[in-house]
Amino acid sequence: MARKIVVTSGKGGVGKTTVTANLGVQLAKKGLRVIVCDLDFGLNNIDVVLGLENRALYDVVDAIEGRCRPKQALVRHPLYPTLYSLTSNHLADRYVSPQAIRLVLDSLAPQYDYILIDSPAGIEEGFHRAVAAADEALLVTTPHISAMRDADRVVGMLRSYRLEQTGLVVNQVRGDMLKRGEVLSPEEISETLRIPLVAVIPEEDRIFLDNISEKSRAFRLLASVCAGGKVKIVDAQKGYGGLFGAIRRGLKRNL
Ligand SMILES: Nc1ncnc2c1ncn2[C@@H]1O[C@H](COP(=O)(O)OP(=O)(O)O)[C@@H](O)[C@H]1O
Ligand SMILES: [Mg+2]
Repeated sequence: MARKIVVTSGKGGVGKTTVTANLGVQLAKKGLRVIVCDLDFGLNNIDVVLGLENRALYDVVDAIEGRCRPKQALVRHPLYPTLYSLTSNHLADRYVSPQAIRLVLDSLAPQYDYILIDSPAGIEEGFHRAVAAADEALLVTTPHISAMRDADRVVGMLRSYRLEQTGLVVNQVRGDMLKRGEVLSPEEISETLRIPLVAVIPEEDRIFLDNISEKSRAFRLLASVCAGGKVKIVDAQKGYGGLFGAIRRGLKRNL
């Protein structure tokens, strides 16, 4: 039976879709059967991030409204055979009830290991729809004050859903800024929000879904945590110490 995990944040642009897509890829690379479900009806860009745009014949709303069976709305990833995407179309103003979504996901759940749910920014209807469909949550924030403030609001909302567990992902962490003490550390953010830290994702200048970078390593570690392994956090400050680190820090500062 699939574990249903919603990826949420409060603030937009902090990396929900990036986390959902990359976590999906890394779980699928372990051979686990994963559905990545886009419940961000306004932006619905996870298929683009996964390289699957324009491949879906049906979307999640078609499944809900009976135009297709839920399975027919899934698109299998050509590179990762156990990874599927369940897209949504531009239906920001369409009313879809949380119960209807839950019904569709529950009908798919027996044949998969994970259903990862990408959610919209904000704490309005779309947020509730996404969280109501899930049993667990990943809360994504960056070390920026505005993102943490919105994350804090979400923490309060998540509590009322009685989820089985919630983990914190601190994204876009800059080792140079941490080293200079210009931002709160991921551990401090976790203490402030009172959510256990499960992953630190370094900020990268280029986004690759699958390379050997620190960011990919960070997502691999997050996938292991989700698959039941011990929490292991990448050291975002790695490479920013010593002489070469000082040069890198100097270069970054000028970006
Ligand atoms: N760790 C990271 N390093 C660099 N850029 C990132 C990172 N995470 C996300 N981004 C970029 O930030 C932007 C917003 O990310 P996205 O996942 O779309 O956020 P959200 O879904 O929360 O709105 C995208 O352009 C994405 O490529
Ligand atoms: Mg998004």
